[in-house]
Amino acid sequence: MAQTWTPSSWRDLPVVQQPVWPDPAAVQLAEKHLASVPPLVFAGEARQLTTALGEVAAGRAFLLQAGDCAESFSDFSADSIRDKLKVILQMAVVLTYSSGVPVVKVGRIAGQFAKPRSSDTEVVAGLELPSFRGHSVNDDLPTAEARTPDPQRLVQAYHQAAATLNLLRAFTKGGFADLSRVHTWNQQFVTASPQGRRYDRLAGEIDRAMTFMRACGIDLDREAGLHQVDFFTSHEALLLGYEEALTRRDSLTGEWYDCSAHMLWIGERTRQIDHAHVAFLDGVRNPVGVKLGPQATPEAAVELARRLNPERIPGRLTFISRMGAGQVRHVLPGVVQAVADEGTPVVWACDPMHGNTFSAANGRKTRRFEVVVDEVAGFFEVCRAAGVWPGGLHCELTGDDVTECLGGGEDVLEAQLDVNYTSACDPRLNARQSLDLAFRIAELLRT
Ligand code: PEP
Ligand code: CO
Repeated sequence: MAQTWTPSSWRDLPVVQQPVWPDPAAVQLAEKHLASVPPLVFAGEARQLTTALGEVAAGRAFLLQAGDCAESFSDFSADSIRDKLKVILQMAVVLTYSSGVPVVKVGRIAGQFAKPRSSDTEVVAGLELPSFRGHSVNDDLPTAEARTPDPQRLVQAYHQAAATLNLLRAFTKGGFADLSRVHTWNQQFVTASPQGRRYDRLAGEIDRAMTFMRACGIDLDREAGLHQVDFFTSHEALLLGYEEALTRRDSLTGEWYDCSAHMLWIGERTRQIDHAHVAFLDGVRNPVGVKLGPQATPEAAVELARRLNPERIPGRLTFISRMGAGQVRHVLPGVVQAVADEGTPVVWACDPMHGNTFSAANGRKTRRFEVVVDEVAGFFEVCRAAGVWPGGLHCELTGDDVTECLGGGEDVLEAQLDVNYTSACDPRLNARQSLDLAFRIAELLRT
């Protein structure tokens, strides 16, 4: 990090993917307000996550980072937060129990409101409109008014993130995530499916193991790890004004932390080495991630590793490969090898979603479950061939019974995509498909 780094030094650099706010003075006011509100997370928690990710970098744990493509102001309820948490807990249990590897749980949640777009405008029913950029910028309704960026949304995003995080903390520390409740995370619409039944059998084995330990005289009540889970938050650090406003100096160490989430990542479209997003992440001490798409070169990855983790701290940097199933076996080997040769410790995670999106005949964006699984399999092959630990999964999912991705679990067909397609952005795995994916990855981890 440059000696002169401040939370606002990114402003001197080229920056892409920022909204064109119609009233800059109103943006300044919103950011000023956000700079005065309480932080959402503490520096010490972010450091805990770095330590946990350090275990992943060392091959002793697995990262599960999952949640919505874009959280929504309109779909905001205790039930939807709880159901998302249930799926993530289920996936973590499947992965841990089947592979014996601890799972670091990170949600794309409590702040995942801003979206990068390939184009500034889109045509809806013959009308050219500004693109939807996430609910912290504009609304997804296809009218010019709804699509006009409104900085008050930044403040609303902060408040929704605060309420979401509050509930997540209550759920994960207040009994809901207790391992004795492992059966109750299986939702009704999942129970009857093959994945749901497989999960129930596994949950039964966990019950028996706990009964056995109790019978051996082990006091399970005293084992905090059985009754609570550590659950961390993350989102794409896209709107740098928002991130800057929530960046605070840690009173303990004097270092800067972006207190909008425990972990921040930058996307495929904002990872230019000399641009603002990399410069911003460079100065905050949170664990950070960078997406690497099929255009990523070994040299670019090495430069990012050196820039974002010069002190070589295990867990500081996660590379999230999102090559697409067709590319991962060709492009990733060179990138992984170059980073391994350079020596910076990184977590290697696989996002098998964003390289595999296509438009179905009815115009819906979708992804095929088997292709998603194939990209993960390719990722494991590449990592293993290079002697690096395939450390994590980064995916888009929901606890709802949506029909957004094709195949898997209950075999969603193309003709069914309209039945319950509610994503404000990219297609997500439903709870059955997510569970199915966890079982597939558990098999990959075992072999
Ligand atoms: C995303 O994670 O929703 C996203 C836009 O990803 P990427 O930057 O990899 O395209
Ligand atoms: Co997405």
